[in-house]
Amino acid sequence: MSAIDEIWLENRRGAQTVGIAEAAPRVSWRHGYADPSAFEMAFERYDGTVETSQSASATLARWPFAPLAPRDGGWLRIREATAPEWSEPLQVEAGLGSEWAANFVSPSAKADARLRPAYLMRASFELPVPAGEIARARIYATAHGVYELEVNGVTPSDDRLAPGWTSYRHRLRYQTHDIGSALREGANTIGVWLADGWYRGHIGFDGGVWDFFGEDLSILLQVELTTRDGAVHRVDLEDAWRWHRSAITEVGLYEGETFDARSHPEGWSSPEFDSTDWASPTVFTREQFSAVIEPPTGPPVRAITTLAPVDVEHLPDGRWRLDFGQNISGVLRIRPRGAAGQVIRLHHAEVLEGEALGTRPLRGAFSVDTYVCRGDGIEEWEPRFTIHGFRYAEIENWPGRLDRGDVEAVVTHTDMVRTGWFASSHPGLNQLHSNVVWSMRDNFVDLPTDCPQRDERMGWTGDIQVFAPTALSLYAAHGTLTGWLQDLAAEQWPDGHVPQFVPWVECGFPNFPTAAWGDAAVIVPWSLYEHDGDARVLERQYPSMRAWVELVHTLTGGSGLWNTGFQLGDWLDPAAPPESPGDSHTDRYLVATAYHVKTARLLARTAHVLGKNSDALRYEQMAAHATSAFQAEYLSASGRVVSDTPTSIAVALVFDLFPDAASAQHAGARLLELVAASGYRITTGFVGTPIICDALVAAGDPDAAYALLLQEDLPSWLYPVTMGATTIWERWDSMLPDGTINPGDMTSFNHYALGAVADFLHRRVAGLAADGVGWKHLRFAPLPGGGLTYAEARHDSPAGVAAARWTRSDDSLTFTATVPPGATGTVQLPGAPAHEIGPGEHRFTVAFRPAHEDPPVSGRQLVAPDRSKS
Ligand code: BGC
Repeated sequence: MSAIDEIWLENRRGAQTVGIAEAAPRVSWRHGYADPSAFEMAFERYDGTVETSQSASATLARWPFAPLAPRDGGWLRIREATAPEWSEPLQVEAGLGSEWAANFVSPSAKADARLRPAYLMRASFELPVPAGEIARARIYATAHGVYELEVNGVTPSDDRLAPGWTSYRHRLRYQTHDIGSALREGANTIGVWLADGWYRGHIGFDGGVWDFFGEDLSILLQVELTTRDGAVHRVDLEDAWRWHRSAITEVGLYEGETFDARSHPEGWSSPEFDSTDWASPTVFTREQFSAVIEPPTGPPVRAITTLAPVDVEHLPDGRWRLDFGQNISGVLRIRPRGAAGQVIRLHHAEVLEGEALGTRPLRGAFSVDTYVCRGDGIEEWEPRFTIHGFRYAEIENWPGRLDRGDVEAVVTHTDMVRTGWFASSHPGLNQLHSNVVWSMRDNFVDLPTDCPQRDERMGWTGDIQVFAPTALSLYAAHGTLTGWLQDLAAEQWPDGHVPQFVPWVECGFPNFPTAAWGDAAVIVPWSLYEHDGDARVLERQYPSMRAWVELVHTLTGGSGLWNTGFQLGDWLDPAAPPESPGDSHTDRYLVATAYHVKTARLLARTAHVLGKNSDALRYEQMAAHATSAFQAEYLSASGRVVSDTPTSIAVALVFDLFPDAASAQHAGARLLELVAASGYRITTGFVGTPIICDALVAAGDPDAAYALLLQEDLPSWLYPVTMGATTIWERWDSMLPDGTINPGDMTSFNHYALGAVADFLHRRVAGLAADGVGWKHLRFAPLPGGGLTYAEARHDSPAGVAAARWTRSDDSLTFTATVPPGATGTVQLPGAPAHEIGPGEHRFTVAFRPAHEDPPVSGRQLVAPDRSKS
C-alpha cells in the first residue's frame, strides 16, 4: 500500500475533484515519509496521454501539467520518488466553466400559499449515441431552491440540500454528477425533486421574511455525454421538461416536511412512466439572474451517520418519546407499518423541560414532520428538504408498538474531514471537547451558522470570527470557509460594511458596522492563512479585508477610537439580563477599538505577505495610532483598564495593547483578582470567553485558568456538562439548575461560539500548537495542572500528523511530541530549558509535582490572590 493516502486540490480537503473551477489546481497530499527525497506526480488524461513531473513539496504543489479546459480531466497518481507504489488514482476534472447552454426551468414561477409543496420535474430523452460509446456522462446542475436528482430511478448523488446556501444574487453553486452507470440504451429519464430550501419560503428571525431571494423556484440542468472519440454530445432537455407536485405536500426548512406516501407516483423518474397529465414549466434565461454560477469550494452536506435511540418511552398520551443521547442536526428515518392514510407526526426538540419536549426555544421553527402511510407493509421514509436540531423526538400516532429499530436519527451536515482530537484524564473536559466537536458538526450545515434548531440558522459573522481557529483545529473546514468568505465579500457594501450575518436576510435586525462581527472579514481569512499557509485566500479577500478596516478607520473619524454607533460588544456576558444580551458590563466601545487595532494589525501583516508595502505601512501606522488612542482612553499609566472587567483586561492582554510589560503585569494581577472574586466563574461573553484562559496564563497563573476551566457552578463551561449537555449552549444557563429553560427568547442548546475554548485545550492543556504559519514550526508548551494526570492532542495538519501527550507520575512529567515531516518544533516544559526538535517522535521527562499537589480547583473559589505580590 502506498504511504500516500489522501490527495486534495487547493485547500479543499474532502471536497469533490470532479467539476472544479481551476484549470491548474494546486495539489496537496498526506504521506507517511519522515524524510521524502521528492515526489513524482503522474496524470493520465482521458485521451490516454500521460504526463509526469516532480515536486519537492507535498503541500500546494503547482499543477505541473497542461491546464485543463472545461470538462478535461484524468487520473492523478503520486508516489515518493524512490518508492515503487503509486497512490490510488484521484479523478480530477474541470467543470463547465462558462459553457452553460441550458436555461432555468421552473415548475412554480410564483409562490402562492405560505407552505409550499416540493415538486417533481422529469425530462425524457433518447440516448443520442450508443451507450457503449459513452466515456463520461455528466449532469451539471443547480437550482433556485434545493434539489435531489434521479436518473432512471437511480440516485446518482448523496448530496443533501444541494446546491446549498450562498449569497444567491451573487453566487450560485452547481454540482457535477456522474450519471454514467444510470444511463441505458434508448430512452432515459432525468428526474428532479425540487423544494424551497433557503432560496424561497420562510427565513430569518423576529417573524422572518418570505421569499427573500426570489419567488421563482427553478432548476438549471445540463446533460452532457462525452464519447470515446472525445466528442461532447449535449442533450437538449428544454422542451422535454414536465412537472407535477410531489408527495411532499408541504415543506419548509424551519417548519418540517409532510409526505403523503399515497400520492407518490411510483416509477416517476423512469422512461416508462406516463406523464401526460404533467404540466410544462416556465423557462427563465440565465441572463435573467445576476449570480455567477460556479462549482463549490467545500464538501457537500451529506447524511453522515445514524444514531439509534438510547431510550424509548411510551407516554401516557400514546406518544413515543425517543432520546438519541446526542444533540444533532438532521432528520429521523422511520419504518412504520401503518394502514393507508395513517398520519404519523414527528416532533423534535433539543431538551426536555419537566415532562415535555422543550420546544419554546425553537421559536418559529416548528420542526414537525408528518408522514401519511401508503398502507402496504413496512414503509421507510425520511424527510428530504428540511432539517432539525434535536436530541429528543416524540412520535405521535405510531401504528402499534415502536421498537428501537423502527426509528433512527440521520446526522446530517457538511461532510468535512476530521483533523483534530483531544483527550485527558478529566471526563468533564473530554465531554466538553466532545460538545464542541458536535456543535461544530451541527452548525456546519453548508455554511457556518449560529445554531441548527430555531428560526435563525444564519451565517453570523461574530460566531465564526471567534470560532474559526478552533474549527480549523478540529476539521478541514477550509473549503467551506473559503466559499463563505466569498459570499461575505459579495455582500459587503460599497463602503466596506459587513452584514451581521452572511448571506444577509433583511428581517429587521440592525445592520450597522459592528466590531467583533464585521471583523470576521479580516480574522477569518487570516485564520485560514495561518492554519494552512496558503496566501491565496488573503489575495482573494484582500479588497474585502481592506474595505472593512478602512470603514472602521472612517468611523473613528481619524481619532483611532471607535466610540460611536451600534455595537453588540461582549455579547451574552452572564451579567446581562436574559432579555438584553448586549448589556454587558464591559464597555462596548473599548471592545470596538481593541478589535480595530487587531484587524488593522492583521491587515498590515496581510499586506506584507502580499508584497503591498505601502499598504503595509499605512495599516501599521493606523494600528499604532489606534493603539495609542486605546491606551490614552482606556488604560491608566500604571496599567489599570477602564471598564474594570475580565473581558476588558483579557482583550488588552491577549491583543497586546499595553505599552510595556510592567503595566501588562499590573493589569494581569487585577484580572486574577477579578476572576478570583467571581469565585472562578465565567464573567465574560462572546468576546472575552474565547481568550480568558490565555489571558490568565499571560497573567502568570495557569492554575487560575484551570480553576475556571474545571468550575462546575454556574456560569461555567462544565455546568452544562453536569446538566447532561452534549453540545455547547448559547447561554451558560440555557437550562437552569431546576431543569427549566432560560426564559430568554434567545436560548439555544447548540451554539459553537463559547466552545472556542477547545482551542486552548489543544494548545495549552495538551501543549500542541502551531507557531507561525502553516504548521511548519510547532510549539509544545503544555501546562499540566488542574489535577489532570494526562492530556493529549493530535492534529492532522497541512504538514502532516502533529501530536502532543503528557502523563504524570508522582514526581515527574513525561511528554511526547510528534513533529510532522519537514517541520520543526520547540518544546517548553515547565521548569525546564527549551529544546528544538525535528520531525518524528520525541520523549522528555522532567521533574514536576504530582497531580494531587496541583492547587485545589474547588478550594480556590474563596481565595483572592494577595495583591501585594504583584
Ligand atoms: C445569534 C448569535 C449572534 C447574535 C448577535 C443571535 O441571535 O444566535 O449567535 O451572534 O444573535 O446579535
